Amino acid sequence: MIKCGIIGCGVIAPTHIEGYQALSDVQVVHLCDLIPERADKLGEKYGVARRSTDYRRLLADPEVDLVSVCTDHASHAQIVVDALNAGKHVVCEKSLGRVPADLKRMCDTAKAHPELVASGIFQHRFQPANRTLKQMVAAGKFGRIIAVNLAFSCLRTDEYYNKDAWRGTFAGEGGGILINQAIHHLDQLRYVFGDIKRLVARTANLTHQGVIEVEDTAAFVMEFKSGVFGTVVATNSAAVEWRSFLSLIGSELCLEYANEVPVHVEGKSAELAKEVEAALTVKNDTPVVGKKYYGVGHTDQLADVIDAIREHRAPAVTIEDAADSSALVMAVYESAAKGGWVDVPDYR
Ligand SMILES: NC(=O)c1ccc[n+]([C@@H]2O[C@H](COP(=O)([O-])OP(=O)(O)OC[C@H]3O[C@@H](n4cnc5c(N)ncnc54)[C@H](O)[C@@H]3O)[C@@H](O)[C@H]2O)c1
Repeated sequence: MIKCGIIGCGVIAPTHIEGYQALSDVQVVHLCDLIPERADKLGEKYGVARRSTDYRRLLADPEVDLVSVCTDHASHAQIVVDALNAGKHVVCEKSLGRVPADLKRMCDTAKAHPELVASGIFQHRFQPANRTLKQMVAAGKFGRIIAVNLAFSCLRTDEYYNKDAWRGTFAGEGGGILINQAIHHLDQLRYVFGDIKRLVARTANLTHQGVIEVEDTAAFVMEFKSGVFGTVVATNSAAVEWRSFLSLIGSELCLEYANEVPVHVEGKSAELAKEVEAALTVKNDTPVVGKKYYGVGHTDQLADVIDAIREHRAPAVTIEDAADSSALVMAVYESAAKGGWVDVPDYR
């Protein structure tokens, strides 16, 4: 039996609890939140008796093997470092941290504890169509990848930002659209096309003036280590709830992929275009815990973390790999602040 503790009992916590409860020989035994009513509410709903308000008490619980960190971005680094130093396996929600120094501390501590599994949540990597896309790119189905363009739109209202003190602040969230929402799709770019070498960016607060300190809109041009060119435009001031639109330009085949569904595939071979479209059209009836756009990946990612613990191996998304997606966001902020091209660092 692997026993889990959850630190942070807000919006995302039920997705972790239900993810663990769906797995065999896994039990959630301890919940923690600064606000006791939040841990009590989830404890009653999911049958978890042990609750605390200080995460150090959860980390001192000898029953807990694995900790899910589901708090705001600013608290992630200290909790992950303390969890690893307390001998707990750890899985931390995105974004791994708020600033580059957070990422370094987390990765250095994880490296000092090779006996422990340390992972960062990027559940869209476990979405079946995204896995297929990665395999097809690697297999050369698109020919040489020339360029990728990502347009990501969602809507975060003033009410959303006013709901919790940490949202929309540099000190609590570390950024806006990029570090919280678009980060899922930036991680997918890294997952499918590899690491980014450098970028040049602009950010703006277009529609949340006086409400948030951070960006609601960003645009950047990037060069992948492979030589592929890319552009990203992202905003949370849009008229849609959540829409990712990826355009992949290959020498053999071009793809337009919207909300992880192929909407247009065209290339030199009509037969290949049909084959790729069919492979990417994955019907998935698995119920989503939380918002629909979270997708179905959390349970599979948590299952991978549990298997990694049992098999004494690295998880599919190591903490260093997850840190590299946060580092990409932070490089965008650096470029926007100082102007000009910025190299994207690597924590792996
Ligand atoms: N993967 C996804 O699709 C997804 C979706 C939503 C949120 N998230 C991420 O999950 C994390 C939490 O987001 P949320 O929307 O659930 O936030 P939230 O504000 O709803 O919940 C966070 C909870 O953590 C508690 N908390 C903060 N510091 C704490 C501490 N030191 N000890 C104990 N409890 C503490 C707060 O009281 C709050 O209840 C963020 O990193 C966010 O980016 C991920």
